[in-house]
Amino acid sequence: MRGPAWRALLLVLALALADAAAGRFVVEKNSIQVTSPDELKGKYECAIGNFGVPQYGGTLHGWVEYPRSNRKGCQSFDQFDISFKPKKAGGRPNFVLLDRGECFFTVKAWNAQNAGAAAVLVVDDKPEPLITMDNPEEGKEHLENITIPSVLITKKLGDQLKKSAEAGDMLSVLLDWRESLPHPDERVEYEFWTNSNDECGPKCDMQMDFVKNFRGTAQVLEKKGYTQFTPHYITWYCPETFVTSKQCKSQCINHGRYCAPDPEQDFSQGYDGKDVVIQNLHQICLFKIANETGKPWLWWDYVHDFALRCPMKDKKYTHECASDVIKSLGLDVEKVNKCVGDPEADEENEILKAEQDAQIGNGKRGDVTILPTLVINNRQYRGKLDKVAVLKAICSGFEETTEPAICLSEEIQTNECLDNNGGCWLDKANNVTACKDTFRGRVCECPIVKGVKFVGDGYTHCEASGIGRCEISNGGCWQETKDGKTISACSNEEPDGCKCPAGFKGDGVKSCEDIDECKEKLFCQCKGCSCKNTWGSYECSCGDDKMLYMREHDTCISKEGTTATVGWSFLWVIFFGLVFAGVGAYAVYKYRLRSYMDSEIRAIMAQYMPLDNQEGANQQHHVAHADDI
Ligand SMILES: *[C@@H]1O[C@H](CO)[C@@H](O)[C@H](O)[C@H]1NC(C)=O
Ligand SMILES: *[C@@H]1O[C@H](CO)[C@@H](O)[C@H](O)[C@H]1NC(C)=O
Ligand SMILES: *[C@@H]1O[C@H](CO)[C@@H](O)[C@H](O)[C@H]1NC(C)=O
Repeated sequence: MRGPAWRALLLVLALALADAAAGRFVVEKNSIQVTSPDELKGKYECAIGNFGVPQYGGTLHGWVEYPRSNRKGCQSFDQFDISFKPKKAGGRPNFVLLDRGECFFTVKAWNAQNAGAAAVLVVDDKPEPLITMDNPEEGKEHLENITIPSVLITKKLGDQLKKSAEAGDMLSVLLDWRESLPHPDERVEYEFWTNSNDECGPKCDMQMDFVKNFRGTAQVLEKKGYTQFTPHYITWYCPETFVTSKQCKSQCINHGRYCAPDPEQDFSQGYDGKDVVIQNLHQICLFKIANETGKPWLWWDYVHDFALRCPMKDKKYTHECASDVIKSLGLDVEKVNKCVGDPEADEENEILKAEQDAQIGNGKRGDVTILPTLVINNRQYRGKLDKVAVLKAICSGFEETTEPAICLSEEIQTNECLDNNGGCWLDKANNVTACKDTFRGRVCECPIVKGVKFVGDGYTHCEASGIGRCEISNGGCWQETKDGKTISACSNEEPDGCKCPAGFKGDGVKSCEDIDECKEKLFCQCKGCSCKNTWGSYECSCGDDKMLYMREHDTCISKEGTTATVGWSFLWVIFFGLVFAGVGAYAVYKYRLRSYMDSEIRAIMAQYMPLDNQEGANQQHHVAHADDI
């Protein structure tokens, strides 16, 4: 059935799709900042190529070279004896500026990469808005092995850079992907548009490799609530006039409503497009049921296991095999079957209808027309479906400092706090720093250490504040130990600041000096008393043996009878105090009870005035209530 009919159908399908997609393709951009020469300094935009590895969340600074020959990069640079490797190890990397045209973008990138370039800047050949450099349908052999980022720049910027390079200027630019994805909050939402078909060649292999490699990471992120993942599947509809055609019947379910292309593009053998739609539907339904049981991540296991256990080539791409996999994951097969529904029915399938609606772009995302497509925080991911590259993109979708630990691992970022403490405040002695490594860089933020909050600008100054602050480097306050006695100017009763304790004077931070109470005639001025200053206090003794120094009154009293007199008067004071307090409390109680009753009764009377006979009963009720207070 490779006749013209099926070609016509493919064309119609393609047209239906192209029509829906017209003009809704969104070009994803990153920033390119020219740092030298001076006359070109500034920020420009460039379009991220849909291959290679863009450094989502990161930056790359390099020199720009415009090769003297092979300026389109279509041949290997070896032939021209050109290399872009940095001259010295550890030197700033070299980017190569190439002209658009003559060969695939991927060929240019591949040649540049082999010559040691760290990134490729392709200059558009006509003045137009930026476009996305895509990977070609043919000539994919290098695709998987391109690991450098590629960007397209406008003809205008390109011409300026070329002119400057030809004049012998040192050209240096910073590629910046830190703002390529929005990062509004503490959770990243992402979608993977995929396909259960395993016989479509490199594209299908790439999808499966991605699922296999990314599964573990995806599940960890999902289980900990850092991400919300949703799988999606593209379907097409059969144009109405073709619904009864053999082609549509073999490619579509629900009477032409949901179609997928034939896996081998041959209607007469193997599996049909229809089988693919049904298996895709199984995968969406599985996700739905798994999500309902609170384990959305089981989708990754299912897709992985299904591809392994039920491949087309072994003729196991069937409902039975799918059911076995579902069972082995502990999910309810019946629920999944119910969700899949009847593929022969002439009616909408809610699930697939929703998928078709979701294909249409919203906001900044654009339509999804190619598989596989990864959408992160509602933006299309550009670049290779590589575990680390995708993880970087997801990490760049978190609000700074809320990213999970996996985003701070050495494999995917550098810890900027290791270099000069990131320029942040540091208390070396106590190993307290304001530098916080983040995926996109670092922030200088006064920390919380052992539950104690530090406050300050984070760059030059932080200090412990609130309860417990004295436990940490004594709250930044003065402290001194003499003769086994430690005196501190930090007090947990005071929320911040330092204050010299009684007996000392000073700023409390750098120093507190002992006050000489004797010299300053503050205490111990009684007649005949002798005063001796001590560290933080003083000692006083009365001149007469029969006298005793009373510290709290700063006076001397006679030793005779002191105990008795003091004791008795003390007891009397307590006794009268208690009696007085008791009487007072009783009076207050009585008064409050009375006034409460009065107001309650008055309120009730006001309410029931016209019903004289009910008044008594209500009063009683409210009095009982009043007694409870
Ligand atoms: C790409 O890399 C893989 C593994 O590193 C290698 O086996 C393959 O030959 C490479 N392909 C090309 C075209 O260099
Ligand atoms: C998955 O479950 C969560 C919470 O129960 C819900 O918010 C979300 O919309 C569900 N996703 C889908 C695709 O059903
Ligand atoms: C400082 O603290 C960090 C983590 O809080 C720790 O990894 C490091 O070993 C500490 N350094 C010293 C010198 O105590």
